Amino acid sequence: MITPSEKRAVTSVPLHPMLADRWSPRGFDREYALSDDELTALLESARWAPSAGNSQPWRLIPGRRGDAAFNLILGSLDDGNQLWAQYASALIVMATQVMDDTGRQRRWAWYDAGQAAADLTMQAGALGLVVHQMGGFDVSVVRESFSLPSSLEPVAVMAVGRWDPTADLPDYLEERERAPRTRLPLTEIVLG
Ligand SMILES: Cc1cc2nc3c(=O)[nH]c(=O)nc-3n(C[C@H](O)[C@H](O)[C@H](O)COP(=O)(O)O)c2cc1C
Repeated sequence: MITPSEKRAVTSVPLHPMLADRWSPRGFDREYALSDDELTALLESARWAPSAGNSQPWRLIPGRRGDAAFNLILGSLDDGNQLWAQYASALIVMATQVMDDTGRQRRWAWYDAGQAAADLTMQAGALGLVVHQMGGFDVSVVRESFSLPSSLEPVAVMAVGRWDPTADLPDYLEERERAPRTRLPLTEIVLG
């Protein structure tokens, strides 16, 4: 069984525990159902994220395990993601408006959506939940399933739920689940 301390970020100075302890598990508690308030809190946290000119380009499509939206989102995921994401309590598509109503490009649309995703992830952590984001999904399936206009670009799918450190995973995923978390050194990402 994996313990949270095994997955904690190794940092040069202490970070807030919510940041140091956040990680992307694949072991989800397949029994856990999100309450209405939990799901609303996640969506509210994204709603209140900062954005360029307060443009709020993010659009979220939530599905809860067992409902029609969840099944459509699940069906858009790569097989390797479906394997474990099917047990998440919710799957949320994060999409962003890459064009405004006048057809002008929104230069910060993707950046803003990432910020909303980060805030949703932190809110999930505050509720004792975990988030695993995925880029491994078929954009055209999401687009068609939810009749999205071309101005709206699906960016990522977020699997949300309660971590189950004892979840049954195939060996290759169990190995990834156990692997230490790594990052580039500060000296490489801080320039100048
Ligand atoms: C935009 C984005 C796309 C990702 N796509 C996938 C994916 O398709 N499948 C997967 O298992 N993990 C995916 N991840 C999770 C990353 O692999 C993970 O965040 C990274 O390895 C760092 O690990 P940590 O989140 O546990 O610190 C994605 C993460 C992000 C932010």
